[in-house]
Amino acid sequence: MKRKVVLSLFVFFLLLILIGCGNGKEPVNTNVTKSNNDTLILYFSATGTTKKIAERISTKLGSDIVEIIPKEKYKDEDLDYNSDCRANREQNDSKARPEIKNKIDISKYDTIYLGYPIWWGTNPKIILTLLDSYDFTGKTIIPFCTSGSSGIGQSVADLRKYNKNLTILDGKRFSVNDSDEVIKKFVNDNTNEVDNNMKAIINGKEYEIKLEKNETVNSFIKMLPLQLDMKELNGNEKYAYLDSKLPTNVFNPKRINAGDVMLYGDDCLVIFYKSFDTSYSYTKMGHIDNLPNLGKDNITIKFE
Ligand SMILES: Cc1cc2nc3c(=O)[nH]c(=O)nc-3n(C[C@H](O)[C@H](O)[C@H](O)COP(=O)(O)O)c2cc1C
Repeated sequence: MKRKVVLSLFVFFLLLILIGCGNGKEPVNTNVTKSNNDTLILYFSATGTTKKIAERISTKLGSDIVEIIPKEKYKDEDLDYNSDCRANREQNDSKARPEIKNKIDISKYDTIYLGYPIWWGTNPKIILTLLDSYDFTGKTIIPFCTSGSSGIGQSVADLRKYNKNLTILDGKRFSVNDSDEVIKKFVNDNTNEVDNNMKAIINGKEYEIKLEKNETVNSFIKMLPLQLDMKELNGNEKYAYLDSKLPTNVFNPKRINAGDVMLYGDDCLVIFYKSFDTSYSYTKMGHIDNLPNLGKDNITIKFE
């Protein structure tokens, strides 16, 4: 009898402790920083390492995640790179395009984090199958990889060369032991880039350029940091020619507003500091709020 009382008291106190721990709310997943409906994490992983990083990025971003599944799964012997294995043969064959088993819908995403392991210094050939199969133009691709030790640089250069129309950011190599902080920094750095924040330093003062989301801006971002000697024109604008051409999406805005940042043609960056009606056509890149009159002189502007 005495034991029964002790047992009941124990269960009672245990219940009290459990109730006390709850606050009546749903558990909060602290990893999710925001919900990204326009971002997809897309990855290929033969042995699960890249998959782990992909899942952590997806959790951080609160975004969809899809695996690129090869039609013919890579078995252990296919990956034995000290032998004449299937992976080695594919990497050595410029025409190899291993088939993808699953259909992937990339249409609703603007930003795609693309993950893969490094094979012989570059991306596995199945990533080229992916680029051949779907239209990534107009989207921002953010590559990430895992590897024994190789960096991501060669694979990114190879992908950019493979399809010159794509916007592919520099990306990052991860090791499986990388901390949450490393993942968070990667996501934040790239979210900022894609969210389009840029600074212009004019006469020692910092201005924020609110950037458009377009390929012109994505390509311009790759040139940063950049210092331009900008020439005065017509008492309303400063302009400078860039070293390389940018993609364009030209239209006639009818009216220029002070603070507009435009591309004239495909390589002339213009910052307007007065409003006026125009018959000229430009590609809009962004806008600086509260831009003062920049005066009569040529000026140096730093973009970061
Ligand atoms: C065929 C093959 C080639 C590889 N080549 C490299 C390489 O050049 N440099 C490197 O650091 N790691 C290399 N690795 C190691 C993988 O990049 C590494 O194990 C990666 O994390 C595996 O990712 P996964 O588990 O997502 O497939 C290679 C692995 C294989 C199977």
